[in-house]
Amino acid sequence: MFSLNFLLFQSSLSVILFVVWTLPHLGLLLSESFEVRSFPTVTGIVGQDVVLPCQISTGTQPNNMELQWKKIIQTHVETVHEYRAQTGQDVPGQKYQGRTVLLKDGFTSGNVSLKLMNVRPADRGTYSCIVKSNEWSADAATELKVAAVASVSIDVLGPQGQGIDLACRSTGWFPSPELHWVTKNGQNLQPVTKTEQDHELLFSVLSNVTILGEETGEISCVIQNSLLKTEQKSVILLSGEFCLPTYLKRMLS
Ligand SMILES: *[C@@H]1O[C@H](CO)[C@@H](O)[C@H](O)[C@H]1NC(C)=O
Ligand SMILES: *[C@@H]1O[C@H](CO)[C@@H](O)[C@H](O)[C@H]1NC(C)=O
Repeated sequence: MFSLNFLLFQSSLSVILFVVWTLPHLGLLLSESFEVRSFPTVTGIVGQDVVLPCQISTGTQPNNMELQWKKIIQTHVETVHEYRAQTGQDVPGQKYQGRTVLLKDGFTSGNVSLKLMNVRPADRGTYSCIVKSNEWSADAATELKVAAVASVSIDVLGPQGQGIDLACRSTGWFPSPELHWVTKNGQNLQPVTKTEQDHELLFSVLSNVTILGEETGEISCVIQNSLLKTEQKSVILLSGEFCLPTYLKRMLS
């Protein structure tokens, strides 16, 4: 009887001791936990800089923070930038030398966004922001979309039967653009359009069309970027009566 009582006393004491020990430490563990947030997508313009956003939910920088930015590519993961508070290490990944900057002013408010400079089409893809402290780790991903637009020009190629041949050109689009010709009379044009991609993955378009004699007024070549929902165009003015020599003289002057 005595020994049973003693055992009960002892076990309730250890429960009390456990609770007394755990509460403050549980608090410590909870205060170290955090989430990391980003935007699902961001759009970068070729040749410009883009901020890949990442924010720590607590609005502070965790102790001994380790920050990694990685790009997730189908079969592997590529280091974009790494930071370690303890050693002060702040280095871009091998393929990102001179192209990434951590804006450390924001660290004190938990802003661990990364600036990627001089965006290229090859940069499009999924980036992961991984934040670690001694006790905790969290990550968030963002998809970088890349866009580029360029100026458009129309050239007069010369007379063609009862009409005239025009060419529309533009170089430096991303993603692949849509090109169409617009005439005032809504003539049913049959352009021949060719799209090519260069080694930097930028698209160029060339479109030839024959404009028939009865067409007058403005003729436009319109090129659209589906990602930015913007367009660029070039307009040429055809003279009233379609007498080729005068027409060409005006056109080429
Ligand atoms: C975080 O820092 C980036 C880069 O300076 C900035 O563009 C962004 O607005 C900041 N985000 C917040 C929520 O302040
Ligand atoms: C357009 O015309 C030019 C000049 O005749 C020619 O070199 C080019 O190949 C043509 N392009 C297409 C897409 O037909």
